[in-house]
Amino acid sequence: MGKVVVLDHPLIKHKLTFIRDKNTGAKEFRELVKEISMLMAYEVTRDFTLEEIEIETPICKTKSQIISGKKLGLVPVLRAGLGMVDGMLNILPAAKVGHIGLYRDPKTFKPVEYFCKLPQDIGERDLIVLDPMLATGGSATAAIGFLKKRGAQNIKLVNIIAAPEGIEKVKSTYPDVDIYVASIDEKLNEHAYIVPGLGDAGDRLFGTK
Ligand code: PRP
Ligand code: URA
Repeated sequence: MGKVVVLDHPLIKHKLTFIRDKNTGAKEFRELVKEISMLMAYEVTRDFTLEEIEIETPICKTKSQIISGKKLGLVPVLRAGLGMVDGMLNILPAAKVGHIGLYRDPKTFKPVEYFCKLPQDIGERDLIVLDPMLATGGSATAAIGFLKKRGAQNIKLVNIIAAPEGIEKVKSTYPDVDIYVASIDEKLNEHAYIVPGLGDAGDRLFGTK
């Protein structure tokens, strides 16, 4: 069974407060999403395996550990997932980046695919799906479904804010996927927006509406 990890850290809680605040403008919002993503990368990579190599310090030879040859892929869900890529790449610079374009139909709340471009070897990569918001879970399960259909074996989902409904949907549809979130909020409202949430993440990142 996949795990659900809630990142419980004062730095993340502090930054979350400011992305939730409706008076935070797009520039600051983008910076904060990037910083939160960078901090989340620390926890998302906790189970990476290490190997020992021999190096020489200016003092002597010694054995020391490095991450053992992992092939990684970051998969932001367009648009809002784009805001998380740079923060993750700061920590994981060798990762390849694939893109899945989905938007939520405003009437049905169902995801509609409009773009998909992935690294060819996704079956060999550990994939990290990025989307700041997990609301009904429709977009996340659709994105994970596309990746699995194209051969992905190992997928983690990283969201900044999640609704309990979205977490349940991902857990029940793809029990092998680990979910990392900075906050599990209270509920969804009648428009399937997360309460209290932060509003529409894509609009706030890109200044649209
Ligand atoms: C938002 C968000 C997720 C999705 C979450 O994207 O970034 O992808 O909604 O909702 P769900 O869990 O109910 O599917 P949106 O469809 O607004 O597109 P955008 O990123 O282009 O703004
Ligand atoms: N998508 C968002 O951007 N925000 C929500 O609260 C729900 C879906």
